[in-house]
Amino acid sequence: MTITATARDSGNTKTVIDRLQALLEDDLEKVEGLLGARAKSPVDIIPDLSGYIVSAGGKRLRPMLTLAAAHAVGGTTHGTHALAAAVEFIHTATLLHDDVVDESDLRRGKPAAKSVWGNSASILVGDFLFARAFTLMVETGNLEILNILSNASSVIAEGEVRQLAAQGRLDLPTEDYLAIIEAKTAALFEAAARAGVLSGGSEEHADALAAYGKNLGLAFQIVDDVLDYGGTTSVIGKVVGDDFREGKITLPVIIARRRGRAEDHAFWERALDIETQEESDLARAIHLIRTTGAAEATIAEAEAYTGLAKKALRGLPESPWRDVLSDLADFCVKRAH
Ligand code: IPE
Ligand code: IPE
Ligand code: MG
Ligand code: MG
Repeated sequence: MTITATARDSGNTKTVIDRLQALLEDDLEKVEGLLGARAKSPVDIIPDLSGYIVSAGGKRLRPMLTLAAAHAVGGTTHGTHALAAAVEFIHTATLLHDDVVDESDLRRGKPAAKSVWGNSASILVGDFLFARAFTLMVETGNLEILNILSNASSVIAEGEVRQLAAQGRLDLPTEDYLAIIEAKTAALFEAAARAGVLSGGSEEHADALAAYGKNLGLAFQIVDDVLDYGGTTSVIGKVVGDDFREGKITLPVIIARRRGRAEDHAFWERALDIETQEESDLARAIHLIRTTGAAEATIAEAEAYTGLAKKALRGLPESPWRDVLSDLADFCVKRAH
């Protein structure tokens, strides 16, 4: 199979992302306003660097999750916009840090901030954005939601550290991989969706949104991991093979290695050790991931989580918002086809 997806080829001319952007136009304008205003600082590098990454594009998936979730259970208020902006700031901060840790040179189709301003500036401005996210959250005056999002922030950091410790560990159990991606990615999706109840909604709605967000996040990261071996730079806006080059153990590798022949085992052993990896190894890894059916099996795993995400939506009242959230779950996997 080939993984040649674009964000725009879901069969309809308009993707669910376009639809969400149109439906949320007024809300998103307010969120973008907050993202610009709250990144202001008299220290020039801060607005320069943060403006660079914030305006580089980005799907705004997580803030759209908060906004659409809010509409699905009540509506949006200033507090919802502040939370949506906070969630995007947290995401942006983790990307600034992640590109330093992962030594990634391309983000959102442009040189990564750390490649323009250097590692130190990227880390420090990430810290600034984290702090500004907390100011935004406090403005909502809702301690419970502050607790949920601050907890998600520490869980993300734990996930990244856990991943660091798992680097090159070829025998990484699938459960450990899932625990890593649940922490580094799904926790923020979960918190972003749950935060939609700020302006209304019952405990059951909050739990349904959280379950939806978590499973969507898992599916999203699994697809991101398969695209690292079969996507194209122009579509993903990142360098293909970054995970491989740093010995990151992700689901396509776990499955391909498990299904491989004896000589392939030796290959994975050598190639995922960054000390012994060779230039031509990525092409062979991509070949093995395709021919063993690991790419397809990985996508099937993502689909299972998408199914759980859609099932969780049954806990919400019927509405066009619920429908678009359901389509968003499908979109996350369609990216990989
Ligand atoms: C990138 O997230 C980080 C992952 C969890 C894979 P997105 O793909 O949502 O990044 P942007 O915001 O659209 O650039
Ligand atoms: C990112 O994971 C998760 C974060 C919390 C930042 P990845 O390392 O796979 O994300 P990309 O591929 O760099 O966007
Ligand atoms: Mg990365
Ligand atoms: Mg990735």
